[in-house]
Amino acid sequence: MLAEMSRAKVMGTGSYIPEAVLTNRDLEKVVDTSDAWITRRTGIKERRIATEGMNTSDMAAAAALEALGSAELEAGDLDLVVVGTVTPDRQFPSCACVLQEKIGALRAASMDVSAGCSGFIYALSVANNAIRCGEANHALVVGAEVLSGVTNWTDRGTCVLLGDGAGAVVLSRTEDDTGIRSIHLRSDGSFGNLLYSVDQCEDRPGPGVLPDMSALKPYYLVMDGQKLFKKAVECLEEITLWTLQRAGVDVSEISLMVPHQANIRIINALAQRLGLNTDKVYTTIEKYGNTSSASIPMALNEAAKGGRLAPKDKLLMVTFGAGLTWGASLVEWSI
Ligand code: ACO
Repeated sequence: MLAEMSRAKVMGTGSYIPEAVLTNRDLEKVVDTSDAWITRRTGIKERRIATEGMNTSDMAAAAALEALGSAELEAGDLDLVVVGTVTPDRQFPSCACVLQEKIGALRAASMDVSAGCSGFIYALSVANNAIRCGEANHALVVGAEVLSGVTNWTDRGTCVLLGDGAGAVVLSRTEDDTGIRSIHLRSDGSFGNLLYSVDQCEDRPGPGVLPDMSALKPYYLVMDGQKLFKKAVECLEEITLWTLQRAGVDVSEISLMVPHQANIRIINALAQRLGLNTDKVYTTIEKYGNTSSASIPMALNEAAKGGRLAPKDKLLMVTFGAGLTWGASLVEWSI
């Protein structure tokens, strides 16, 4: 009975932002593009690139330790670690298990969630449910990506969009009425052809047969940008309105929206459809580009530490990504 009344609330946030900056001007030397085109069509001016040898779990660990520090909790307090990523260090073990070892969260159950750019909101939902049903008291939720490792650096339609980074939140069980008020997920695999990875598996002859290693293609991402753009705006609006309705919150009550950072035109189109003022929309795309699962928790940490959120504020997070997947959450802020 107690568990049914519980909620999950955000106790702390953290992020890791790689030092190396790749500007639009730098990209002009890599592909046939221009700073003016990238800025006008996407809003991106620069993005961060992980140091060579740095894995997703390394960035996730840095973000996680900051989030635990601001939550005033130890890694040993965690019951659950969930990582949203499309770029785990390896196929297995999961990035979450590697991360758990790196930060010393050895009491926790750990798993990855693969939901394209929606990975963080999907991971948040998993952790929220575990807390609400009484399975966990404290959970770490991470979005972390090394997209530079899966970028086709000869494709100007995608390589200008992507960046690396990690963000994390710590959730704890609460009996008060703050925290995650509603969270909803959607997917539609029939649009999977709009964004997918071409990876080594496609060249594998089958179970038990060794592939010709020299014929393996690199793993990289393929996208139909225009179709995805239109679908994204529709999905984001639909899930936002549903999530607000389920939380009993009107658009006018939103204190801050932290959307997935894929394209400033997508974000602006969503804000316009919702009738939300741009001063209530938090964007980092200009500095970091699209960091997939990491974009929302990176932006959230910056917004929270920058004084953009106060207790009782109504925070809307909304995302879409490969799958297609999409989702949103309405959170009553608590720190
Ligand atoms: N520099 C210069 N020109 C370019 C570039 C570039 N980097 N990329 C494409 N172009 C050209 C095209 O070749 C095309 O030329 P043409 O008219 O001669 O054929 C022209 O610019 C227009 O191309 P469009 O694809 O129509 O441009 P659009 O305005 O749709 O912008 C973009 C492209 C930025 C990709 C946009 O469609 C978009 O953001 N879509 C959504 C992407 C997204 O949200 N992805 C999320 C997932 S990414 C992930 O999951 C990691």
